[in-house]
Amino acid sequence: MAKSISLTRYLVEQQRVDGLIPSQLRLLLEVVARACKSISHSVNKGALGEVLGSAGSENVQGEIQKKLDIIANEVLIEANEWGGHLAAMASEEMDGIYQVPNRYPRGEYLLLFDPLDGSSNIDVNVSIGTIFSVLLKPEGPQLAEQDFLQAGSQQVAAGYCVYGPQTTLVLTVGHGVAMFTLDREQGSFVLTQEDVRIPEDTQEFAINMSNMRHWDAPTTRYIQECLQGRDGPRGKDFNMRWIASMVADVHRILTRGGVFLYPWDKREPNQAGKLRLMYEANPMAWLVEQAGGGATNGHRRILDIAPAQLHQRVSVVLGSKNEVERVTQYYAQATPA
Ligand code: AHG
Ligand code: MN
Ligand code: MN
Repeated sequence: MAKSISLTRYLVEQQRVDGLIPSQLRLLLEVVARACKSISHSVNKGALGEVLGSAGSENVQGEIQKKLDIIANEVLIEANEWGGHLAAMASEEMDGIYQVPNRYPRGEYLLLFDPLDGSSNIDVNVSIGTIFSVLLKPEGPQLAEQDFLQAGSQQVAAGYCVYGPQTTLVLTVGHGVAMFTLDREQGSFVLTQEDVRIPEDTQEFAINMSNMRHWDAPTTRYIQECLQGRDGPRGKDFNMRWIASMVADVHRILTRGGVFLYPWDKREPNQAGKLRLMYEANPMAWLVEQAGGGATNGHRRILDIAPAQLHQRVSVVLGSKNEVERVTQYYAQATPA
C-alpha cells in the first residue's frame, strides 16, 4: 500500500531532511493549516452553525462583511498570535496591521491573509477559501505597516485552502506546489499531489463577462478573439468558467490549466483593479509561477510590483503561460512606447 504523507510529515521532511524551511516557518504553516481546518468545519456547518448571512458591518474597502468573513479572520488571529512565530498579521478584514500582543513572544514572520475569499458564494453553498502570504519582517526593533510593503518576490511561503466538495490546502515555499486534502476521519491534511504543473496552453478562460462594456481595449480584444472560436484568429473554440471565488478559479487552473483575468475597468478608473495585491494576487501569482504558469497585471510581473499600500489593488492576468504572455503582449502593443 502506498504510504500516506501527512502535512506535518511533509513539512518536517522539508525542514529536517531537505533544509528547505526553518522550524519557525514549519510551525507557522502548521498553525495556518489548523486554522483552515477549523474554518472548514464552520463552512461545513452552514446554517446549522449559524454562520451564514451578513454581519452588518463594512471592511476598509467598503464591502459588507459576512459573518464568516469575521469568524475566519478571528480564527486565523487566535490560532497565530500566541505561538511565537509571528511579529504581526494583516488581513482584508482589518484596516491596519495586527501586532502580536506584548504578552506573547514575537517571531520574525509577517502573515497576510484574505480570511474568506469568495464571500458572495458563502450563502449559496459554492466553493470559497482562505488565501495567505508569508513575509520576513525586515531587521530592526520597530514594527510598522511599512514592514509589510514588500514585493511578492520576497514571499517565503504562500498558499490557499479551498472549501469545496473537498477541503484542499495548496502550498509553496518556493520549491514547487503541493496539494493536501483534508481527511476528516483522521483530522489531518494528507499529501495528494506534488509538483503541480499548469499546461502552457489552454482553451478555457475565466472573467466576469458582465463587465465587458467597462473593459479597456487589450482585454476586450483578447476575449473577443477567444469568443470567435474556431472561425476567429485563434483557430480554436474556448470554454468559459467564472466561479466568483478567485480561490476556486485558481484551483481549477492549477488542476487543469486555464487563464484568469480580473482587469482594470471603467467603473473605478482610479483603482488599478478589484483584487488586492498583497493577500490575493501575490500569493496566487507565486503559486501559479511555481507551477510553470504566468502572472502579470497586463504590463509586468505581479511579483515585481513594489507595494505602496497594504490594501492596494491590482489588475490580474494569471494561468497558462502562453495565454498570459498573449494578453500581456496585447497590452504592450496598445501602450505607446
Ligand atoms: P472577497 O470575497 O475576498 O472580497 O473576494 C472576491 C473576489 C474574488 O474572489 C473573485 O474572483 C471576485 O472578487 C469576484 O468578483 P465579481 O463579484 O465581480 O464576480
Ligand atoms: Mn478575496
Ligand atoms: Mn475576503
